[in-house]
Formats: sequence, C-alpha cells, structure tokens
Amino acid sequence: MFITLEGPEGSGKTSQLSAFADFLREQGYEVLTTREPGGTAIGDQIRQILVSMENKNLHPRTEIMLFLSARAQLVEQVIKPALSNGKIVVCDRYGDSTLAYQGYGHGLPLETLRKMLGFATDGLKPELTLYLDLEVEVGLLRKKKEQEWNRLDAYEAAFHRRVRQGYLTMAAAEPERWKVIDASQPKDDVQRDMRKVALEALENCKVNPRL
Ligand code: TYD
Repeated sequence: MFITLEGPEGSGKTSQLSAFADFLREQGYEVLTTREPGGTAIGDQIRQILVSMENKNLHPRTEIMLFLSARAQLVEQVIKPALSNGKIVVCDRYGDSTLAYQGYGHGLPLETLRKMLGFATDGLKPELTLYLDLEVEVGLLRKKKEQEWNRLDAYEAAFHRRVRQGYLTMAAAEPERWKVIDASQPKDDVQRDMRKVALEALENCKVNPRL
C-alpha cells in the first residue's frame, strides 16, 4: 500500500512519521519511509535549490518542474521498487502538495498540473492520504518557534490559507482516499488517529502483513 502524509506548514507530519512507520512494522508490515522534495541523492540536490533563501525569485513554473523532477526520480528509484517488493511506502508529501501549493496556492491551472503530475509519477497515486489539518496561523507560529523558517514558509499567510483550502477541497472530493486528522490535538492523539485510520484502510484492502 502506498500512503502519503499531507498537511500545511507546521502540521507536524514529519515528526509523526517515524513513530507511525514503527507502529506499522510492529503490525508485521515491511515499511519504507521517504520524503518530498528529496528522498534520493538527485532529489536532495533539487531540494537544496527549492528551499534556499537565496532563490527568492524562483518562478512558480520553474519551481513546479523542480518538484516534479525530484518526484519522478523518487517514484522510479524508491517507491515503485518498494511497492513491488510488497512493502508499505509512507511518503511525507507527494503529488497533492503540488496541487495544494502550486495549484491552489499559486493559482497555476489544476488540470495542467494534474497532467504533469501523471507524467512525472507515471500515474502512480497513493491509496491512502492522511491529511493533518491545522489552522494556518497556528502552523506558521509553530514553525517560527522551531526556527525552521525557509524560503517556502516565507510566503504570505494568504498563500498558506489558499493551500489549506485547497487541501480541504481535495479531501472533500475524494473522501475514500483522504482521511482528515485534526493536527491541533496533542501529538499523541494525532498519532493515535493516524494509526486507527491506517489500520482500517489496511483491513479494507485486505493487505496481509508478511509475518
Ligand atoms: P519542508 O521543509 O519539507 O516542509 P514540511 O516539513 O512542511 O514538509 O519543505 C517542503 C516545502 O515544499 C513545503 O513548504 C511544501 C512545499 N512543496 C510544494 O510547494 N510543492 C510540492 O510539490 C512539494 C512536494 C512541496
């Protein structure tokens, strides 16, 4: 099964990821975790361009092609081989981040983006998307406190509000794949909700642990 974690800034996806993967391993599954942008040596180099504070004038069209390049490499080099070996792949951000940030956030045309995404990923879509939802102001404040402020966070709050609305729109349009989790809860409660939803999805698709 291919699972993705999505969320606006400061939603805590990244810090939940390893405990979530460990839980799935305890259930007997083989699990591979990865993150976007990055996840391969080539992708990590692309990530440096994307997050650098020096690249303030990176055009949205340039930006999107960099995200897609990193993703194409990740799909071929990491995700597809792991899925064919029967693993669960948990990816921190994937195509829906592009729709949320570049599409809803920057206003690039969604239909064009969907076609480009299909090309970059060779049509590979997640079966389950855990969306950690959080109010924009709360999320941005969390990140500022952690001093993890990078170029992509520095966009104005209005941009991040469009991103969040985009996520909520996509989640409502495809409720069987998207599961919305309240990320304003304490960390342990968020983790509990993620586990519950994942177990339900694994049961429904009858993926058996490889014990
Ligand atoms: P990162 O530091 O990994 O943030 P987070 O911990 O919130 O995931 O930076 C990823 C940034 O890239 C984040 O601001 C979202 C953005 N992004 C896009 O704009 N489009 C994309 O397709 C992807 C994968 C990420």
